Amino acid sequence: MSNPKITVVGAGFVGATTAQRIVEKDIADVVLIDIVEGLPQGKALDMMESAPIEGFRSRIVGTNDYADTKNSDIIIITAGLARKPGMSRDDLLAKNADIISGIVRACAKESPDAIIIVVTNPLDVMTYLAWKTSGFKPNRVFGMAGALDSARYGYFVADEMKCAPGEVDAVVLGGHGDQMVPVPKHTTVKGKSIVGMIDPKRIEEINQRTRDGGAEIVKHLKTGSAFYAPSSSVVRMVRAILQDSGEVIPCCVYLTGQYGIKDVYCGVPARLGRNGVRDVVEIELTEEEKTELTASAEHVRENCAKLKVPV
Ligand code: LAC
Repeated sequence: MSNPKITVVGAGFVGATTAQRIVEKDIADVVLIDIVEGLPQGKALDMMESAPIEGFRSRIVGTNDYADTKNSDIIIITAGLARKPGMSRDDLLAKNADIISGIVRACAKESPDAIIIVVTNPLDVMTYLAWKTSGFKPNRVFGMAGALDSARYGYFVADEMKCAPGEVDAVVLGGHGDQMVPVPKHTTVKGKSIVGMIDPKRIEEINQRTRDGGAEIVKHLKTGSAFYAPSSSVVRMVRAILQDSGEVIPCCVYLTGQYGIKDVYCGVPARLGRNGVRDVVEIELTEEEKTELTASAEHVRENCAKLKVPV
């Protein structure tokens, strides 16, 4: 059986690190594509030259030509601009919308049976746009955010509890923004909820640090945003898909009434398998969490309305 083929669009920090994790773990062959000439070629060749040391057999090629992405099993979209001083969020939305719709059109043409995972911000809006532009079924177009927000929450909880990060199973729902919804009751250490183990005031502080998790990294880096945990998070989703594992991972998916939310993309726990999203898992939320999740979804809906979506 041939190795699965994954296209990573965007050879910046998130795209290149995602590609590196995929080939080093021998999960799939990768096509790294970027609009900048030489950038994906250089990074791909550099990674291949590490193969004799790292011992992986997967291949990565860099290209500027969408023809090379033909028949990809999964397309990961990381391309787009980050916010710069003086730019409004709407500027970013409009600019990235142009970039994402162009990319999705090109990718969908070459790989009509692929699964698309969107990573570009504003995440929930770009995922909706990718779905609309691709014409794919919604189970094959979804976004990476919940995995990242949950990983951050999990790390902060592990730090607080002085336990191994791998012993924490954390859940964060909602859009990838200030209104995301950490869910302490379903966040567990060795299977036991953190509610009752960590002081409620401290839990609220950890929740807030999680909501600000992306901004905290940007504040340190100054000229860029996070990429190690984001790339790990995408690869977690990729593994669940390729292994058809049915693992439940919070993802930005299209809701059709689950959690009382309809016709909008938002972060909820989803079961992933070879066809993408198998189903949405509805966990029990407090009234407050439900209200927060609905508000977060409505915020996404308002921003989606600002798109000039080509249907
Ligand atoms: C983050 C940004 C990149 O959460 O969305 O790090």
